[in-house]
Amino acid sequence: MNKFLMTLACPLLVMLLAHPAEAMQKRAYHESLYEAGCESCHDQGLKRYPSDAACLQCHDPEGLARQTAREGEEAKQNPHDSLHYGKDAPCMDCHGEHTPKKALCQECHNFDYPKFNG
Ligand code: HEC
Ligand code: HEC
Ligand code: HEC
Ligand code: HEC
Repeated sequence: MNKFLMTLACPLLVMLLAHPAEAMQKRAYHESLYEAGCESCHDQGLKRYPSDAACLQCHDPEGLARQTAREGEEAKQNPHDSLHYGKDAPCMDCHGEHTPKKALCQECHNFDYPKFNG
């Protein structure tokens, strides 16, 4: 490597080491959680996924079921109160934070979920 490349590469390496989290995808609606610190979700440390209990500090199952409620024949297509899993399906089966996910139901069904953002 020549001198020019070295002077370019070193500050870059320092930046990457100092800010490993910078490259990570974050959801804008959770911005205040990052200000509070990663552990506001990561109750089991950074090497594991957060538990559902972490999400439930702020989101409540009854409220979620109401927010995504559907009428009549479609009632049990509600992802937060569904035919197969009721209100108990783990959040991270469908929702990602740093990586986009698919709603579990879509593996087998073609329901329309306009508010879903992965
Ligand atoms: C809003 C909640 C939330 C916050 C805040 C959050 N995370 Fe996460 N994190 C998740 C979720 C959900 C997953 C699992 C799904 C995914 O990857 O999106 C995860 C997964 C991870 C993983 C992968 C763990 C594994 O088992 O593979 C790492 C590493 C990680 N997060 C690091 C961080 C760091 C570093 C921060 C702080 C800068 C942070 N997270 C803040 C929710 C959060
Ligand atoms: C400290 C509080 C807090 C925690 C913990 C938290 N959230 Fe949130 N979340 C919010 C707030 C505030 C919003 C924005 C308002 C809203 O949509 O309810 C939000 C929004 C969301 C949204 C979508 C909103 C939209 O408009 O599309 C999803 C999905 C979500 N959170 C999932 C999760 C998951 C999964 C976890 C656990 C890994 C989690 N949240 C943990 C506070 C929290
Ligand atoms: C089986 C998949 C699935 C599970 C499990 C799930 N969600 Fe969702 N969630 C969805 C889908 C799909 C939508 C969008 C629904 C729509 O468009 O009607 C959604 C929407 C949301 C929203 C936004 C609601 C709105 O009115 O915009 C929040 C917040 C949310 N989910 C949080 C959570 C949390 C927290 C958990 C765990 C307690 C969870 N979800 C579990 C699939 C799921
Ligand atoms: C592994 C495949 C699979 C997954 C994942 C799955 N389902 Fe189903 N679901 C089925 C099968 C099989 C039936 C019965 C046959 C049929 O009616 O299609 C069914 C039937 C249904 C029905 C009644 C029939 C209809 O189409 O209205 C509803 C409502 C439903 N599922 C909702 C959901 C919801 C909501 C989710 C996500 C929380 C989900 N399912 C996830 C396989 C699945």
